[in-house]
Amino acid sequence: MILLLFPCMSSRFRRSFLLLAILPLIASASPTGEPVKLGFFMSITGRDASFGEAALRGARLAIDDVNAAGGILGRPAELVVEDNRSLPGESATAVKKLIARDKVVALIGECASSRTLEAAPLAQAAGLPLVTPASTNPRVTAVGDCIFRMCFADPFQGEVLANYAWKQLGLRRAALLIDPGAPYSVGLAEVFSRTFTALGGRIVASQKYSGGDKDLRAQLTAIRSAQPDTIFLPGYYVEAGLAAQQARELGLKATLLGGDGFEAPQLIEIGGAALNGTYYSTHYSAESQSPASQRFVAAYQARYGGVPVGLAALTYDAIKLIADAITRAGGTDRVALRKALAATHDFPGVTGRTTLDEHRDAVKEAAIITVRDGRCVFVDSIRP
Ligand code: PHE
Repeated sequence: MILLLFPCMSSRFRRSFLLLAILPLIASASPTGEPVKLGFFMSITGRDASFGEAALRGARLAIDDVNAAGGILGRPAELVVEDNRSLPGESATAVKKLIARDKVVALIGECASSRTLEAAPLAQAAGLPLVTPASTNPRVTAVGDCIFRMCFADPFQGEVLANYAWKQLGLRRAALLIDPGAPYSVGLAEVFSRTFTALGGRIVASQKYSGGDKDLRAQLTAIRSAQPDTIFLPGYYVEAGLAAQQARELGLKATLLGGDGFEAPQLIEIGGAALNGTYYSTHYSAESQSPASQRFVAAYQARYGGVPVGLAALTYDAIKLIADAITRAGGTDRVALRKALAATHDFPGVTGRTTLDEHRDAVKEAAIITVRDGRCVFVDSIRP
């Protein structure tokens, strides 16, 4: 039956698909009773929809895996999804609804630090745990003891990028292109600049843009006259793709450098060949050889096609971690759940083993990716 439905699948995929299909049958008893509701808020539509899609895919895989393995303390896990449409203000509205109307036991979101920062004070005020899969700005978890993150934070990421630029790529003159309205952009630029100049590098230009800008030519022209050998753009994939194209149009040859915000399948669609030679850091590579990662990649491919980005893997891990913490806490009591999350040590995830430090931030490796012949290729992994 499965073979008839999927005649074009390679035998490897067919095997993993078969395994997935029968897994629920051989796993523990089906979950019963009141669902354990997990509130998920993300940019499912709007400017950063690529983030929302990736995260939601990872989340749904995690929920299905949790339920196939017997649920959370025998109860079914249920994802309650809210779309903030990538708009300011909407994450707060979404989280209020999830808390008051849906009575979720924990929150998962957002990707962009700006939007997690909007929601975090509401979770904190309610005493409800919030796990962000991918917001890296340090202020996010500083909101309070209810806020956790599944990923490293920007003090680490900024240092990794500056060191890599200086030591591995031999770059010496950096121009910055910053979105002052985005805490992620401002924070990452700060750490990068501090580390890069401490190493002996120079910041030769600093220009601003505003998220959603389509034309960066004026800024790039000013940058060109400062003759940088790298443009550091702590922004998201849309600006990264546009900046790459417009920089090349203007004859700028400097290496484009960025952080985890570059990672989206749409990056290459937007920037095309102009992105060749770009470097960025991220949380995970689907090329990882760990068994957990390989299982995840196979399940992702069977269900959605294509290769998962780090955000999908981090969101998958965030949900599995919450399920694990509820189990360790013996229930969904908010205080007990918070304590269990804070005690997370060596949690085996798709993105590696996760330990949360005293700031409730994950201590994790960064992956360095380069764009070569229009493809994103893993080149290195950097330990904290
Ligand atoms: N780290 C980014 C932020 O904090 C968000 C992001 C994470 C984007 C992972 C893409 C992938 O704003």
